[in-house]
Amino acid sequence: MPPQEKSTTAQDNARNIVDGRAIAGQLLCELAGKVAELKKRGLQPGLAFVRVGEDPASKVYVGRKEKACKDLGIFSETHVLPETVLEGRLIELIGALNADPRLHGILVQAPLPKSISEARVYSSVLPHKDVDGFHPVNAGKLMLGDPSGFQPCTPAGIMELFARSGVQTAGAEVVILGRGNIVGKPMAAMLCQKGKNANATVTLCHSATRDVAAHCRRADILIAAMGVAHFVKADMVKPGATVIDVGVNRVEGKITGDVDFDAVQKVAGKITPNPGGVGPMTIAMLMSNTVRAAETWS
Ligand code: GUN
Repeated sequence: MPPQEKSTTAQDNARNIVDGRAIAGQLLCELAGKVAELKKRGLQPGLAFVRVGEDPASKVYVGRKEKACKDLGIFSETHVLPETVLEGRLIELIGALNADPRLHGILVQAPLPKSISEARVYSSVLPHKDVDGFHPVNAGKLMLGDPSGFQPCTPAGIMELFARSGVQTAGAEVVILGRGNIVGKPMAAMLCQKGKNANATVTLCHSATRDVAAHCRRADILIAAMGVAHFVKADMVKPGATVIDVGVNRVEGKITGDVDFDAVQKVAGKITPNPGGVGPMTIAMLMSNTVRAAETWS
């Protein structure tokens, strides 16, 4: 019987889980050592959060990031501005944070209100404090394969998951669903670089793609980041493929991924749970970028 036709048991299924929580935990342990070293030199990494409005999901995400800073011994402060704030006022605040020597990183939580230009806001963060990797200088460095820039935390976390869970990207057919600036586009740029942990053949699918399912079925690695609950069904996944679920969708008060997990887990070779897959890695990479900012720029 070919391996993909083997019947699966609950135990087999548990074995194909890529445990993002555990891998993020390893990363954070490694970072704790670096933070301790910096503190011995009299340097505490510092990170500012800016949240605009009262979006419940943003509140939860910023809360988790604040907790990660506290657990790791990173100084953090959070600025909350009203939904109605003017773009100029937000950029003025970012100017003050840019000038604050206690802060090595600045994170402005997305999404921002429609009245505010995300492009102008992210361009106003100094590139060497842009631990989100959203500034055009850092986005450009990513495209050019220049490792001196900061890379967006979610795709960087997925690259780390591949490296630490034995997923071969070199020569793999990778299909990414979603072309957003936070995940889809930078994910494609990382995977197509020339390099040991990249070297993939990348297809980026989006709302104008014809026959998305046909693309998905070719994928050795399928990354779902388009924000449609349970979009990826078992018959869209090649047996043995690695499936990464980035989706965070609220359905009837419950958080649901872009992947129909229960069905797809039976087909996939490896799969991230959601929650407990990509989310913790995003936070770990933010901590990693902040520690690197402190090491590099102090
Ligand atoms: N909103 C969703 N993901 C992110 C992220 O990685 N950074 C910021 N700033 N906002 C987000």
